[in-house]
Amino acid sequence: MQFQWYPGHMAKAKKAMMEDIKLIDVIIELVDARLPYSSKNPDIETLANGKARVIIMNKCDLADSSITDDWIKYYEDKGCFTVRVDSKAGKGIKAVNSVIQKACSKKIERDRRRGILNRPVRAMIAGIPNVGKSTFINSFAGKACTKTGNRPGVTKGKQWIRLNKNVELLDTPGILWPKFEDQSVGLRLAFTGAIKDELYNMYELAILLIKYLSENYPDAISTYYQIETSGEQEPEVLRRIAVRRGCIKSGAEPDPDKAARYLIDDFRTGRLGKITLERPVCS
Ligand code: G4P
Repeated sequence: MQFQWYPGHMAKAKKAMMEDIKLIDVIIELVDARLPYSSKNPDIETLANGKARVIIMNKCDLADSSITDDWIKYYEDKGCFTVRVDSKAGKGIKAVNSVIQKACSKKIERDRRRGILNRPVRAMIAGIPNVGKSTFINSFAGKACTKTGNRPGVTKGKQWIRLNKNVELLDTPGILWPKFEDQSVGLRLAFTGAIKDELYNMYELAILLIKYLSENYPDAISTYYQIETSGEQEPEVLRRIAVRRGCIKSGAEPDPDKAARYLIDDFRTGRLGKITLERPVCS
């Protein structure tokens, strides 16, 4: 399956990110906990240019929690600071503040030695489209925050959200691009809806999802749809889902295309269970 990407958008996003990075102390990168490798930007190390970094495992409510543990260990072994979060429900958000302080401890110590005390660290949120940046900012910033507006010496038009006495957040998130050249990454992003649905064939996508689930979460489909799946080929499983969900076309035939959309949606919304699409070893 082929996916389309837009180099023009990427170049523009990269330029904007590079400008913003000059203004901040720490980049808070959001990844999707269901695919913590595929939803990460390939160039962030270079872009970050030595700034402190925090990785937020967002949407952890939809991910397999034991595999999220493995990913956290994986990134922490690489020296990253990591937090698991469900931005939609606001879970895990409280821990973010202290992790930011830990990630910036060298800078805070440097400031202290120079006699600069209580200067807030400046942070920006970054991540690929749909990873939950806006939801996270709303949840993290909450209602109590105040926008500080333009400041002398800071690029005109930049808005900062003062979260508390320790952190200021750039209110526009950095938009990053995924590892677009890797088709298996594209496929996993498509499963989660991070790529526009118009760019691929839903039936094909559903067949590949059934294959992944039967190998990794063999009970997910049979339990949710209450159908027998063991030993069946993927098209037959989809046909059974169609019958179960009442996806019938004219002539009383099961409609696999409609069932494909249901299946993908049931996966994306977590109805099939907490499912992760990749493990640290396969990255
Ligand atoms: P973006 O700014 O990075 O593009 O992402 P955005 O916040 O718009 O979030 C994209 C989708 O992901 C939204 O769903 C949002 O609700 C959902 N989302 C964000 N964080 C979490 C999370 O931690 N857990 C879960 N389960 N979902 C999350 P949507 O379907 O586009 O909108 P809506 O149905 O919520 O209105």
